[in-house]
Amino acid sequence: MLFLKNLTISVEGKTIIKNLNFEFEKGKTYAIMGPNGSGKSTLAYSIMGHPAYKLSDKSSMKLNGQEISQMDPNERAQEGLFLSFQSPLALSGVKVYQLLQLAMNGKKDPLQIRKEAQKYAKELGISEELLNRPLNVGASGGERKKMEVLQAAVLEKDLLVFDEVDTGVDVDALKDISHFLTKHKKNKTYIAITHYNRILHYLKPDFVLVMKDGKIVKVGKADLAKTIESEGYEYIKK
Ligand SMILES: Nc1ncnc2c1ncn2[C@@H]1O[C@H](COP(=O)(O)OP(=O)(O)O)[C@@H](O)[C@H]1O
Ligand SMILES: [Mg+2]
Repeated sequence: MLFLKNLTISVEGKTIIKNLNFEFEKGKTYAIMGPNGSGKSTLAYSIMGHPAYKLSDKSSMKLNGQEISQMDPNERAQEGLFLSFQSPLALSGVKVYQLLQLAMNGKKDPLQIRKEAQKYAKELGISEELLNRPLNVGASGGERKKMEVLQAAVLEKDLLVFDEVDTGVDVDALKDISHFLTKHKKNKTYIAITHYNRILHYLKPDFVLVMKDGKIVKVGKADLAKTIESEGYEYIKK
């Protein structure tokens, strides 16, 4: 599905990801854990094509066999990628419907988009009022994360990267988000970057990846997340 080869990424002249190799398979759920600053968000942004993150010449990113490393974010989205931001921004003057319409590029009827957004909002416990407000204006951390998940669902992408979708989210909101993601998983590939085992309790990852200093230093099953939670990242050194 997504094949990362010799991935070396720098930002502001500083190398963050160092020769990373990994293949994400279709339909599986992955968790990416790792200490602060290990390069998790950098990897997420780079998969989506953020222009600040520069790939080395040898770096390759293939989505279903097609090289995507030269594509802009919009093209990557059309190829089926979605990124839920660690810190979703507010957009005054723009409603989520308008943003979704733009992102769908005419592939879904505006009325249909509205209907789906309203249905998903109900499932996620997002109020009508929040849904109709300019995007994320005055919204809490948890509300913003829910809005990200709602957008992911309407856009119907195949590979979804959730950067700390569980951070700053209360227990009930976490349940809403987790149940929603589980219900709508189908054959999608999920990559959930997280610091906590609590979301993984619901998402049940097939694989847990640990990043440290821009590298994947360990790959394990769900129990790896539990071990890390109890023993910390020092455990990896052993
Ligand atoms: N735009 C940027 N400018 C400068 N340094 C950056 C930028 N983005 C990320 N970094 C640096 O790259 C490293 C990895 O950051 P990040 O990918 O956000 O880590 P993580 O998500 O694992 O906490 C950090 O040292 C961070 O300061
Ligand atoms: Mg991060």
